[in-house]
Amino acid sequence: MSVAAAHPNLALVKYWGKADAARNLPATPSLGVSLDALSSRVEVWLDTGDSVEIDGRSVDPARYRPFLAAVRRRCGTQSGFRIRARNDFPSAAGLASSSSGFAALASACTAACGARLGDAELSALARLGSASAARAVFGGFAVLPAGAEHAQPLAPAAAWPELRVVIAVVTAAAKPIGSREAMERVRRTSPAYDGWVRDSPRLYEEAVAAVRDRDLTRLGGAMRKSYHRMFATMLAADPPIRYWLPETLALLAAVEELRAQGVAAWETMDAGPQVKVVCADGDTGRVAAALAAACPGARAPVISAVGAGVRRAG
Ligand code: DP6
Repeated sequence: MSVAAAHPNLALVKYWGKADAARNLPATPSLGVSLDALSSRVEVWLDTGDSVEIDGRSVDPARYRPFLAAVRRRCGTQSGFRIRARNDFPSAAGLASSSSGFAALASACTAACGARLGDAELSALARLGSASAARAVFGGFAVLPAGAEHAQPLAPAAAWPELRVVIAVVTAAAKPIGSREAMERVRRTSPAYDGWVRDSPRLYEEAVAAVRDRDLTRLGGAMRKSYHRMFATMLAADPPIRYWLPETLALLAAVEELRAQGVAAWETMDAGPQVKVVCADGDTGRVAAALAAACPGARAPVISAVGAGVRRAG
């Protein structure tokens, strides 16, 4: 058995749309951060066929076939894989579980075959499972340029040690439509899609410079535009896609209020109703209290530091 673990990689500037669906190449450049507080752990055994179990439930391996075929080609094997994955956070709920899941899976599957891949090759393999997983191979801050085969490290966790992400989980329920299907519908039907793809590189460059300078306000401004514009493409799709819940709006208003009070707190969202707020370590108490007050009944917000990259765990 081979074991690997990875943290989800939260996009601060979003990958949303594919330049090439068959090769799963991103249409927009993205920049993400590893979330130390959340983890996926994957165990893999060589077997006669493929089977996948996530958090104790058997899932259809069809979604995994192109990825597993690529692993077999790379490792020169005909073997099947028995896969058992566990997330210590809700799966498929907009918390980037596919990023950590496929990063850990790429590492565990190749290790089970006795192959040793460098980070770039591992990232390219993980991308075939989920493009956001290409970033999750790396710790700290990582970028996945538009059309890129693999992600690249931008800055290690130690480069911005006081940065925190406060995560408000509005609901643990799985999202109504997966991000893959949603971004394909957007590409086919949303008049806002072309503008999104054209405009994304500017926000990306802004965010890259902000991370290099550890400038939270500049990063926050780019983050905010990135997720709002991503959701604009979804609202303009046919039929429209809307992940937000009433609690989401209450949380967004609470973060805006914090900023009005002078707290550097900047939110982002993914394909789901959860709200993640980037701030400095000294402000996490205030941010978590504001999020809890805005969404009573939800579980307590999770506070995360910047995490490491994928690692073999056995
Ligand atoms: C909104 O990486 O899950 O989280 O490549 O089709 O598997 P596939 O998509 P996936 O999409 C992530 C979308 C996002 C933004 C991001 O993580 O960059």
